[in-house]
Amino acid sequence: MTSKALADLRSRRWFDATDMRGFAHRQRIQQMGLRREDVLERPIVAIINTWSDLSPCHAHLRERAESIKRGVLMAGGMPFELPALSLGEVMVKPTTMLYRNFLAMEVEELLRSLPVDGVVLLAGCDKTTPGTLMGAISTDLPTLFCPAGGMLSDRYLKQGEPARVVGAGTHTRMFWDEYQAGAICDNEWVNLEAKMTRSPGTCNVMGTASTMVSMVEALGLALPGATAIPAMDSAHVRMATACGERIVHMIWEDLKPSRLLTRGSFLNAVAAQMALGGSTNAAVHVMALARRAGVALNLDDLDAMARRVPVLANLFPSGDRLMEDFHYAGGLPALLNRIRAHLNLDELTVTGQRLGEAIAGRESLDDEVIRPLDRPVSEAGALAVLRGNLAPEGAVMKTSAASPRYFHHVGKALVFDNPAEMMARCADPELDCDENTVLVLRNAGPVGAPGMPEWGGLPIPKKLLARGVRDLVRLSDARMSGTHYGSCVLHISPESAVGGPLALVQTGDLIELNLPERRLQLRVDDAELARRRAAWQPPVSPYRRGYIKLYQEHVTQAHEGCDFDFLQDAIPSTEPTIF
Ligand code: FES
Ligand code: MG
Repeated sequence: MTSKALADLRSRRWFDATDMRGFAHRQRIQQMGLRREDVLERPIVAIINTWSDLSPCHAHLRERAESIKRGVLMAGGMPFELPALSLGEVMVKPTTMLYRNFLAMEVEELLRSLPVDGVVLLAGCDKTTPGTLMGAISTDLPTLFCPAGGMLSDRYLKQGEPARVVGAGTHTRMFWDEYQAGAICDNEWVNLEAKMTRSPGTCNVMGTASTMVSMVEALGLALPGATAIPAMDSAHVRMATACGERIVHMIWEDLKPSRLLTRGSFLNAVAAQMALGGSTNAAVHVMALARRAGVALNLDDLDAMARRVPVLANLFPSGDRLMEDFHYAGGLPALLNRIRAHLNLDELTVTGQRLGEAIAGRESLDDEVIRPLDRPVSEAGALAVLRGNLAPEGAVMKTSAASPRYFHHVGKALVFDNPAEMMARCADPELDCDENTVLVLRNAGPVGAPGMPEWGGLPIPKKLLARGVRDLVRLSDARMSGTHYGSCVLHISPESAVGGPLALVQTGDLIELNLPERRLQLRVDDAELARRRAAWQPPVSPYRRGYIKLYQEHVTQAHEGCDFDFLQDAIPSTEPTIF
C-alpha cells in the first residue's frame, strides 16, 4: 500500500515554507487561535459543507460537520470546514441542475486553492452529491463522501381507511393528482402540507438523492452501510465521526479517487442503480462522474445492466417502502450482497477493503424490502435506453415506474413548446386528448430550458384526471424527479434547442414507443422531416450575460452527462503557484 510521510503532505507547501509566505500562512493560522503545530504536524482535512438555511434536507449538516471534526482530531488530523454552494432541491429555481456544474467548479477550486490534504464531502440532496464529487475527482485528493441521510418516515391516516406509508416527493404528486380530480378537499390539501417531510434529511424514497448516495457507496467512496442511515438516527452521528477518522488514514495511505474509480467500480454503481430501481437522473450524473474519472461509460452500459439486474429494492416510487425500512433491512451492503454475481468484487473502497470483503455476510433482514432474486419488484428492469429517429443519441425511461399498458404504444402527439403553455392547456377542460395521446414537451433540455429541469413528468390534463386517467405516454428533453412515476420518456438527445428531431414534431403526428425493442419513432417520412428541418429556426436565448450564458455555451448533451465541455475530461487540476 502506498503511504505518505508528513514531509510529503500537500499542505506543507503552505505551512512549512521558510520564506515570507510560509511565515504569513502560519501567522494567519495563529490569528484564528490555533497553534503552529496544529498545521505543521497534522494532515489538513477539508469538510465541504453544503448546509444552508434554505436547504431543508441539509438542515442538520452543521452539527454533522462537528462530528466529522471530532473524528479528524481523534485520528490526528486538523479539520477545516469549507461552506459550498447549497443546492436545496425544490427551493432553487428553475432547477438545481443548472448549478450542479457551478458547485463542481467551486469544490474543485476550493480544494485546489487552499492548503488541503484530503476532503470529506458532506452532501446528499440530489445535485449536491454529483456536484461535490465531480469537483473532488478532478482535484484527486483523498476523498470520502459523508451522506446526509434520509428524513424520517411518515404515515397518512384518514378515518375509516387503513394507514398509508407516505414518502417525500412521490406522495406530493399523488395527492396533487387526487386533489385535482376532486378526491381531496381544500382543507385536507392544506393539512397535507405538514406531512411527508418529518425531519431534516433527504427524500426518504428512492429518488435522486437516495440513488446518488447509494451509487457513491457502490463506487467505493462512502463507508459501507452509510447511505441508508436515517439523518436523525444516532448512528448517523457516529457514522460522521467515523468519516472524520477514516479520511485521516486515507491521507496517509494516499487513497485517492484515481485509485478507486475504474470501469469496474462504475459498473458496480450502475448495478446498484438498477437493483434499487433508482432515479433516471443518475443516467446523467454517472456519465459526468465517469468522464471526470477518465472512465469509458455510455448509455448502452446502463441498458445492458438494467436487462441483467432485477429491481430488488421495494422502495417508492417503484415499490411501496421507504429508506428507513431499507436501513432496517440491511441497507445497501445487503442489497449488493444479493446481486454480488453482477458485481466486480475486487474493486477497492475507502475502507481499504475490496468491495467483496465489505459486503461479505451482509444478509437481507427483511425480504419484503430487499427482495430475493426470484421475486423482483419489477420484471421490466429499472431503466431502458431508447433510440430511433426521435432520439438518435438516446433517451431514457424508468420502466419500473411506468404502466405496462404503454410498453408498446402508438399515439397522436400533443406538443407543448414551453411549460407555461403546457400548464395552461392541460387545465383546459376542452383539450383535445384521450388516454392514447402522447404528450410532448420540448425546449426543456440542458441548453433550451436551460438546465434540463424536472419538467419531464408532464401533468395529466385535468379532463383526463376527472375520468380517472393517472398515466399517459409523455416525451421530453427534460429530466423527471426521481421521486415521480409514470410512462415518461426523458433526456431525449440531442435536445430540441440544438436542432434535435424533437424540434420537428407537430401536434397530430404519430409516435411509436416500443419498449421491448427499445425504439422511439416519429412516424413521419424523411422528406417531410427534411422540409420541416429547412424551415426550423433555433430559439433565441434571452440570457446575454453571466453564469447562464456560460452554461448555455458550454453544457454538453444529456447522454454525455451535461458537464461543461472544458471540465469534463480527466485532465488533472493544476496545483497553484505559491508566491
Ligand atoms: Fe432534497 Fe429531495 S428535496 S433530497
Ligand atoms: Mg429530486
